[in-house]
Amino acid sequence: MKPTHLMQIADLSVSEIDGFLRMASAMKENPVEHISSRPLAGKTLGLVFEKASTRTRISFEVAMTQLGGHSLVLGSEGSQMTRGESVADTVKVLSRYVDGLVIRTFGQDILEEWALHATIPVINGLTDLHHPCQVLADLLTIQERVGQLQGVKIAYIGDGNNVAHSLIEAAVRMGMTLSLACPSGYEPNQVIVEAACMGSHAGTVECVTDPIIAVKNADFIYTDVWTSMGYEGEQGTRTAVFSGYQVNAALVAAAKPQTLVMHCLPAHRGEEITSDVVDGPQSIVLDQAENRLHVQKAILVRLLGS
Ligand code: CP
Ligand code: NVA
Repeated sequence: MKPTHLMQIADLSVSEIDGFLRMASAMKENPVEHISSRPLAGKTLGLVFEKASTRTRISFEVAMTQLGGHSLVLGSEGSQMTRGESVADTVKVLSRYVDGLVIRTFGQDILEEWALHATIPVINGLTDLHHPCQVLADLLTIQERVGQLQGVKIAYIGDGNNVAHSLIEAAVRMGMTLSLACPSGYEPNQVIVEAACMGSHAGTVECVTDPIIAVKNADFIYTDVWTSMGYEGEQGTRTAVFSGYQVNAALVAAAKPQTLVMHCLPAHRGEEITSDVVDGPQSIVLDQAENRLHVQKAILVRLLGS
């Protein structure tokens, strides 16, 4: 069955995730075919960003262009939402104009409010809790390097945040091992971890505090910013707490010699990752960024296509 919305990875079955990855990979290998067939001709995607974005916004816009459709960015500034028009009223109206919405917002409950009142597909472009489109692109990036997801070990170092949560939900479904090293008090949401581990999934998730333990035998080391959007008020405390959680040459050297380094970007160089690592030969951050485009196209064709 076709998914209605894309709110979090946990809403997807293994075969739906595989389907997105297969379609994205086929589109990446043969861009001419789908660009000339214009599968979303006449369709419009609305994008609502209540937080900054470069990759998510541009990859969705370019994806719509390449699929023969259009996109509009509905800045919350300048719209009637800033003057108090409710999410419910806004999305009911937008559902009469556009064929799908990408929402980047704060609470997952806000996103759920959009989806509740929408009569069109709603796609999570990042919330405080999840970043599913990012992680689908990450899965494609890993699969390209290793040829499969099953049995791959990822070490996630740093904040137990939205990216970490989507990685947890993806890892268990796809038979991966995810070892998260987070400082005390900044572990991933326990409800998400427990729900992921309760299902009859093939993968495993372990939470540790020592990055050296997490990276042992890891095929991939993944990190993200110490202070996510919306948490700027905690920056000072976080910089101190996370100081031992930097992905630097010494940590990379503690993993396998061929370990690859991932980051969803934007990177705060000198904080969660050093420049020599992010620009180094083991870094695949630009492949991740590029794969956002290919995966967005698969998501759009699946959710908005006929
Ligand atoms: N990785 C990611 O979502 O980047 P943007 O914030 O630039 O969209
Ligand atoms: N965790 C980061 C991801 C940015 C793409 C944030 O939410 O700001």
